[in-house]
Amino acid sequence: MASLFVCMKPAFWASRRRQARQNADLKVLDGLSLYENRPPTPASTKPTPCATTNDISTVSSSNTVFESEEASTHRALVIASKRQYALLELHPSPKFENDTEVMVRNHAVGLNPIDWKSVDYNFCLPAFPWVTGREMAGVVEKVGSRVTEFKKGDRVWTSTYYRDVRAGCFQELVMVPQHTVSPIPNNMTFEAAACLGVAGLTAAMTLWKWLNVLMPSACLGMPQQSLFDRDQEYLLVWGGSTVTGQFAIQIAVRCGLKVIAVTSEKTKGLAEALGAEVVTRDSKAVNEIVGEILAIAGDRITKAIDLVGDKNTVNSLMAVSKSRQVDFAPLAMMGKHSVMENVTVHTVEMKRFVLDEKSSVYSKELNRMIQDGLIRLPEIQILVGGLSVIEEGLELLKRGDMNGRKLVVSMAEK
Ligand SMILES: NC(=O)c1ccc[n+]([C@@H]2O[C@H](COP(=O)([O-])OP(=O)(O)OC[C@H]3O[C@@H](n4cnc5c(N)ncnc54)[C@H](OP(=O)(O)O)[C@@H]3O)[C@@H](O)[C@H]2O)c1
Repeated sequence: MASLFVCMKPAFWASRRRQARQNADLKVLDGLSLYENRPPTPASTKPTPCATTNDISTVSSSNTVFESEEASTHRALVIASKRQYALLELHPSPKFENDTEVMVRNHAVGLNPIDWKSVDYNFCLPAFPWVTGREMAGVVEKVGSRVTEFKKGDRVWTSTYYRDVRAGCFQELVMVPQHTVSPIPNNMTFEAAACLGVAGLTAAMTLWKWLNVLMPSACLGMPQQSLFDRDQEYLLVWGGSTVTGQFAIQIAVRCGLKVIAVTSEKTKGLAEALGAEVVTRDSKAVNEIVGEILAIAGDRITKAIDLVGDKNTVNSLMAVSKSRQVDFAPLAMMGKHSVMENVTVHTVEMKRFVLDEKSSVYSKELNRMIQDGLIRLPEIQILVGGLSVIEEGLELLKRGDMNGRKLVVSMAEK
């Protein structure tokens, strides 16, 4: 079970929040005024402007008219314009666009580096205003008529695609396709479940979908030696104490791989406890780190995940096998670097989870492993205060001193 503690808020953040509220209040009063057209749309297609704010209570793209008994507005933290947040009290609430969608009331939202990076560097924001946030946990509010697996009141978590503004998680109500919704495993809090949609699912899909690691359920009944030659194959996780790395180490170990992780001295014990052999990086030249990795694994690293990014992808590739086929996933971006012929570089696109219905097999397997106690969740730092504390949470994340903890915002008001 994850260990939880509530973050104490220094005065610095209180003043930043006041400032943010002032900015937001100055810019917008009700939220509807931000839209010239109906709030932009859909999951799998390019965002398109729709009807006017006056007729947003009925829908749809498939000629199905849904009863609009749900509130037509709700609270949302929007990116109002470049690098500018606004907390809106009367934002148009998301509407059903087909009968296989699920509306979830937000109880907790996970924060991720991509959330602040996309705002600071202005990418993955198809239009303004936009709602970001990629993972959340909550309670089903309403379901479309063809939703079979969920009903109002179910506790669920989900992972979303940024191109559908209705699925942005920094709002009270979130609309998602049913195959992206998973029940919260027994005894798990909303806050703990809110960390599964990005780090947990990315680690799972990277290994099972892109790096060709067999899922535990796929191995049932197969002779052990046909799965992995346990003494032969290594997974390298450079950035082993990142939240994503923690999930990746554990899933890989449970799937029969040996794992080498690169971390700092501070978080070495964490990665070791999850099952990795660890090489620390503090005050070491890259050659020294790579030398230590090779001393452990020799030429046996056939799979690698880089969670640090750009130039470090080259460092990761220095450590992989020179003679065998290697699958490499640069999760934190990769510049233009040439790679050896035996290396396949996989572009991990988490939108595949939303766009390919069959991808629910990965969330189901992840859920099962958690339910069975095979995966330990990261330590979770909870920031209480709902949408109004998300900006300060993102600033905390940006400072980069999380030491392997996952930051989650509880929608509970202080
Ligand atoms: N493509 C995708 O869909 C996807 C999905 C998830 C994450 N990502 C990316 O993966 C990266 C990690 O995300 P996350 O949320 O898991 O990160 P995170 O938990 O926020 O990462 C923080 C950790 O990074 C470690 N770290 C910092 N600098 C490092 C370095 N030079 N070498 C090794 N470790 C270092 C720190 O531990 P120590 O200093 O103690 O080692 C720290 O605890 C981000 O760049 C994120 O954008 C991509």
